[in-house]
Amino acid sequence: MKEQKEPFLNASDFGKDFTWGVSTAAYQIEGGHDADGKGRSIWDEFTATPKMILNGDNANVSCDFYHRYKEDILLMKSMNIDNYRFSISWPRILPNGTESINEAGIQFYNDVINFCLEQKITPWVTLYHWDLPQILEEKGGWTNRDIIEWFSEFTQVCANAFGDRVKNWMVLNEPMVFTGAGYFLGVHAPGKKRLKSFLPAAHHAVLCQAKGARILRTLVPDAQIGTTFSCSQITPYRQNKRDRKTAIMVDALLNRLFIEPALGLGYPTNEAPILKKLKPYIQPTDMEDCKFDFDFIGIQNYTREKVKYSVLVPYIRAKIVKASKRNVATTLMDWEVYPPSIYNMIKKFSEYHEIKKIIITENGAAFKDTIEGEIITDTNRLNFLQGYLGEVLKAKQDGLNIHGYFVWTFTDNFEWAEGYFPRFGLVHINFKTLKRTIKESGKWFSQFLSNKN
Ligand code: NOJ
Repeated sequence: MKEQKEPFLNASDFGKDFTWGVSTAAYQIEGGHDADGKGRSIWDEFTATPKMILNGDNANVSCDFYHRYKEDILLMKSMNIDNYRFSISWPRILPNGTESINEAGIQFYNDVINFCLEQKITPWVTLYHWDLPQILEEKGGWTNRDIIEWFSEFTQVCANAFGDRVKNWMVLNEPMVFTGAGYFLGVHAPGKKRLKSFLPAAHHAVLCQAKGARILRTLVPDAQIGTTFSCSQITPYRQNKRDRKTAIMVDALLNRLFIEPALGLGYPTNEAPILKKLKPYIQPTDMEDCKFDFDFIGIQNYTREKVKYSVLVPYIRAKIVKASKRNVATTLMDWEVYPPSIYNMIKKFSEYHEIKKIIITENGAAFKDTIEGEIITDTNRLNFLQGYLGEVLKAKQDGLNIHGYFVWTFTDNFEWAEGYFPRFGLVHINFKTLKRTIKESGKWFSQFLSNKN
C-alpha cells in the first residue's frame, strides 16, 4: 500500500457528539487464567487441546492486563482515548458458572472501572465475549436452554456490581461467530461441529441477547444498552443467478440471523431456508421474548466476502472464495482490504428503522509490523484505518445513522485460533518482556483524536 503522508481526517470532522474509543476482550488480554479464584473457561480448555491453536499458543498470560491494567489505561489516556470497551470474564466472576461469587473477580473489574473513571475514560462493558465457564459447557453450554437462566444470573451479578458506574453495556459479542465457529465449524471453543449443536446454540443466544438486555434495563435504568454483530458485505463471486441467490442466503445467515429477531422481524427463513430447522427449539412465546428495543447496535466490520454456489458444501451449498484466491490486497487474516464494505454495512443497518443508533464497535487490521528499536512502523494499518474511517465519514455526511467508532484493538493480543500471529494493536507488545510500544498507527490515532471539538 502507498504511504499516506498527512492525516487527511480529523476527529472533529465527525462532529463533537461522535464517540471514539478502543475495544478489547477479557480472554484475549487479561492472562491471570487461574489467578485469585478464577474458574476455567471454554477457551482455557480449547487452547489446552492439541492442534486447535496456531503454534499451540494460549492466553494464560497474554498481555497480562490482569496485573497491568493501570499501565494500559494510562497509555490510553496519553493517546487521547476516552472510551474503552472491554468484556467481563464470566468464570472470573462466577467460577462455577452460577451461584458462588468470586469477590476477587468483582474487585478486579471494580478496579478497572474506577481507574478508567479517574482518568476520565468512559467504560463500555461487553457481558459475553466468548469465555463461557467450562463447567457450563459440560452441561451443554449454549446448546442447553438452561443457558437463559445461567446467563441471566451472570447479567444480574454484573449489573448489580458495576451498574452504578457503568452506563454503556453490550450484551453479546458477535453471536454468529461464537455459535458458528464454536458449535458448527469447530474452529473456536468449544470445538463442536454439528448443525444440531449450532441451531439450539443460535436460538438460545438470540433469547439471551434480549433477556440480558431486559435485566440490564431493570437494574440499570439509566444505561445505554446495545449488543454487537459481526457483519461483512457479501457479494456474489460470479454474476450468475445461482451465485446471486447464494449471496442473499449467506447475507441472511451472517448479517441478519441475530439482529432480525431482536427487531421483531423473526428469522430470515425465506432467504436462508436452513433456518426452518430452528423450529423444534422455538417455544411458544420465544419470538416475543427475543425482542428488545436496543439503544444502540454495535456493528463490527473488517472486510467483504465473495461467495459462490457449491454443491459440495452440505446444508448451505455455499462457499466463501478466499481473498488470497482473488488477487486483492489482504491482511494477515487473509481478509480483503475493502473500505467501502464499512460504508455499505452502515447503510444496510441504517435501513432498519427499528435501530435507534449504530456504533462501529470494532474495526481494525492485522499486518506485519516493522520494528526498529522504539519505532514500530505499520503503514498498512495506518492506511487501513484511514481508508475505513474515510468511508465512515462519508456515511455520516450522507446522513446515515452512525454515531461512534471503536478500533480493534488497543494492544496486540491473543487472536483466538490464530494465537499471537496476527497483530491488530495500535500498541505493540513484546510477548516475552510484555513491554508496550505505541506503533505509528497509534501515534496517528492519538493525533487524530487530539482535535475532537
Ligand atoms: C471480532 C472479535 O470480536 C474479536 O475478538 C477479534 O479479535 C476480532 N474480531 C478480530 O478477528
